[in-house]
Amino acid sequence: MIKLSNLGYVILSMQDPASWQAFGTDMLGMMAVPGNGAEGHCFLKMDEAPHRIIIEPASDDRFACGGWEVADANALAAVAKQLEAAGCTVTPGTAEESDVRAVTAFVHTNDPAGNRLEVFHGRASDATPFTSATDVNRFVTEGIGLGHIVVPAPNMDETHDFYASVLGFGDSDDLNLPAPAEGVPPMRIRFMHADNPRHHSLALFNFPAENGLVHMMVEVDELDTVGKALDRINAAGIPLMSSLGRHCNDNMLSFYVIGPGGIIVEYGWDGLQLDWDNFEPTVSTEGDTWGHHYNMPSE
Ligand SMILES: [Fe+2]
Repeated sequence: MIKLSNLGYVILSMQDPASWQAFGTDMLGMMAVPGNGAEGHCFLKMDEAPHRIIIEPASDDRFACGGWEVADANALAAVAKQLEAAGCTVTPGTAEESDVRAVTAFVHTNDPAGNRLEVFHGRASDATPFTSATDVNRFVTEGIGLGHIVVPAPNMDETHDFYASVLGFGDSDDLNLPAPAEGVPPMRIRFMHADNPRHHSLALFNFPAENGLVHMMVEVDELDTVGKALDRINAAGIPLMSSLGRHCNDNMLSFYVIGPGGIIVEYGWDGLQLDWDNFEPTVSTEGDTWGHHYNMPSE
């Protein structure tokens, strides 16, 4: 089976792409780049990749999809076959769409929970060096993708099985937490790794998410960079979804901010990278070693 190697990009659909781009630069320290100049689109660069966050104009605000990398055209064709064999409808991206993503080719499909995902190959680094709009020395991405996404999967078992058996994701942690309110099930988050050392590139949450995303995570290389971003966000009066804290499973020290369009971004440092040949998936009942006091927007 061909496994997906890393999360290469995410696409956000926004009524006001420029406001998300400004949040990405001024608050998160990313770099605004012109991308391919597609009308109304905004692009954020984090490293040597042409860009990592693509913001497309839309009539509502939502997470569109993640884009997962494979090595080459043969691997992409093999993944498309794996998906079709599992009964998925696989649609090749157009040349125009590939150009927006700065990839050679991609396909898209939906997981059993209805989340769109894209699989691509051929994304050359570009010649533009990354320069942070603030003071980020480096986003931690090399060989491990841009970060992670957590997507809604109320039909957890079916969706988990799809990512594990059709796309080759491995289990990292199965986190079980109490019900967030009376009359709803306990919370469960299944953390999965792609074919790279990052503790998880994907997680599945057993509750719906109105805008298509539970949260996305980006990682920086210094603790002070997290603190300074938190200062900027607090000074700007942008709401947090969670205070600073450290996760048990991937050791990430992070906070969560509610970006434009309700897109929740975890901004972290010190995430674990693992050797999967010497790893036993964990089952846990504690999310945090300290902190991460959540303030759910829906409550
Ligand atoms: Fe996270």
